[in-house]
Amino acid sequence: MELLKERILREASILNQDVLKLDALLNHQVDPLLTQEMGKEFARLYAESPITKVITVESSGIPVAFSTALALGVPLVFARRKKTLIADPDAYCERVPSFTKGIVTDIMVSRQFLTADDTVLFIDDIIANGDAARGLIKIIERSGAKLAGLGIVVEKSFQSGARTIREQGVRVESLVKIASLDGGKIRFE
Ligand code: G4P
Ligand code: NA
Ligand code: NA
Repeated sequence: MELLKERILREASILNQDVLKLDALLNHQVDPLLTQEMGKEFARLYAESPITKVITVESSGIPVAFSTALALGVPLVFARRKKTLIADPDAYCERVPSFTKGIVTDIMVSRQFLTADDTVLFIDDIIANGDAARGLIKIIERSGAKLAGLGIVVEKSFQSGARTIREQGVRVESLVKIASLDGGKIRFE
């Protein structure tokens, strides 16, 4: 998505060789029209899949997942993050480590909102090592829902998350792929 590359070059900043600060576009502020275009692009990419729900993890995945759900005309479900997890028989839970925050969190989806009748499109803002993504994929598998694939806004392809998930046979579509942040420069693939 060329428009998104331009916006990233103008509005993102490099924190270090592994982390791109995307607060202006994804993690603190969102541009509704740009976010709507992202959603339309994911809807176009997955137009042939019989998607019944879009799913993401709170918080930064929600705006783009919402725009995708709107474009597809299906509900959006977002996995909740919990600090302390009280065992809940009515929910699927997975523990996931976080790359940027250096902490472990639990993500949770109520059984009510994800069932074996669903075919889901998993949307997320950024993929790095893919730990959070793998956690949600496990929840989707346990629910019996079918996973149509992933739609990622920014794939950092120098980290292993998206590659590992593709190797499992899951479709992963990314709007932009960043090959490197070395030398303080953003290099797209
Ligand atoms: P992931 O690849 O499945 O997201 O898992 P990983 O453990 O690698 O990353 C965990 C968190 O770190 C995610 O946010 C992810 O978006 C964020 N992250 C990873 N690399 C970058 C980066 O280069 N820049 C920025 N801005 N964020 C990055 P999260 O914990 O899901 O939090 P939230 O943003 O949804 O609240
Ligand atoms: Na994030
Ligand atoms: Na996210």
